[in-house]
Amino acid sequence: MKTIVSGIQPTGELNIGTYLGSIKNFVALQKSHPDHHFFLFIADTHAITVPQDPTKLRAAIKSLAAMYVACGIHLDQTSLFVQSEITAHQEMDVLLQSFAYMGELERMTQFKDKAQKQVEGIRASLFTYPVLMAGDILLYDAEFVPVGDDQKQHLELTRTIAERVNHQYGEFFTVPKPLFPELTARVMSLQNPDQKMSKSDPNVKSKILLSDPENIIKKRIRSAVTDSEGTVRYDPENKKGLSNLLRMYAALEETSVDNMVERYKGVNYQTFKDDLGTKIAAHLAPIQARYHALMQSQELTDILDDGKKRAEALAIKKVQRFKKKLGLGFKR
Ligand code: TRP
Repeated sequence: MKTIVSGIQPTGELNIGTYLGSIKNFVALQKSHPDHHFFLFIADTHAITVPQDPTKLRAAIKSLAAMYVACGIHLDQTSLFVQSEITAHQEMDVLLQSFAYMGELERMTQFKDKAQKQVEGIRASLFTYPVLMAGDILLYDAEFVPVGDDQKQHLELTRTIAERVNHQYGEFFTVPKPLFPELTARVMSLQNPDQKMSKSDPNVKSKILLSDPENIIKKRIRSAVTDSEGTVRYDPENKKGLSNLLRMYAALEETSVDNMVERYKGVNYQTFKDDLGTKIAAHLAPIQARYHALMQSQELTDILDDGKKRAEALAIKKVQRFKKKLGLGFKR
């Protein structure tokens, strides 16, 4: 079975950046890769690498699961589950710790960034986080891993670890390849187009939440930082804000940026922004309706139970075989 693996952390409320950069992309990938099975999970163990409020974390896990389904992932082609519910992820993490080097983990820019912001109480798990991630991927022998730009380095390390094991013990893990969404790997903040739109940005004006109503969406787009030139054209160097909006628009329309530029030739920013706001709201409306229905039904529990069952069967086997390969244990 050919597989694709990806996870999203249940932290903060989902915004249009995660939607366009990951979830919408999964749905498109499912169409273009009909012979692949998708293991999609909520990376809750990753979330506790920094402090979390338990009540909020629980709520975010459920909400993210509902959002995945509401966004239209094909359930017959997907095992959707919560990472911590399959203990093979933790086991694989521990085993792979012996195949990652300190120097490699020290070079991870995400760790360096996060550790710099938080001088005290940096968790050991924050340092070893890429190994847990490698385990998530290698457990299912993923051929592809759709990730945003910020996960590129972690995926490189996953490949290094897989190759290291294969080299020492003979072919055992599939070496995964990254898949980046072309246009929207990085949806930028609406207020500061030099920064990625971020779940943790306290400025509400910087993002559009998937739960935002139409009037808020329009307001956020209207107040998005652009430039004073007044011409709708794509220039990611000098017109970062407007180019970000153009990429978002093109991704929603499933067309090219060039087509969008053509459509808005000679049109002012206000009209362009109003249209984009309307487009986003119309795109999100059915997703929001499905989300609310799921949050109130038993269906979600059934979907997660089913996903867990399917994923766990594979994961347990892979860990057992790996332990044996390493010479661990006694009887089996
Ligand atoms: N680290 C990823 C993030 O923060 C989430 C993640 C965890 C992931 N495990 C994964 C993504 C495995 C892809 C594959 O976005």
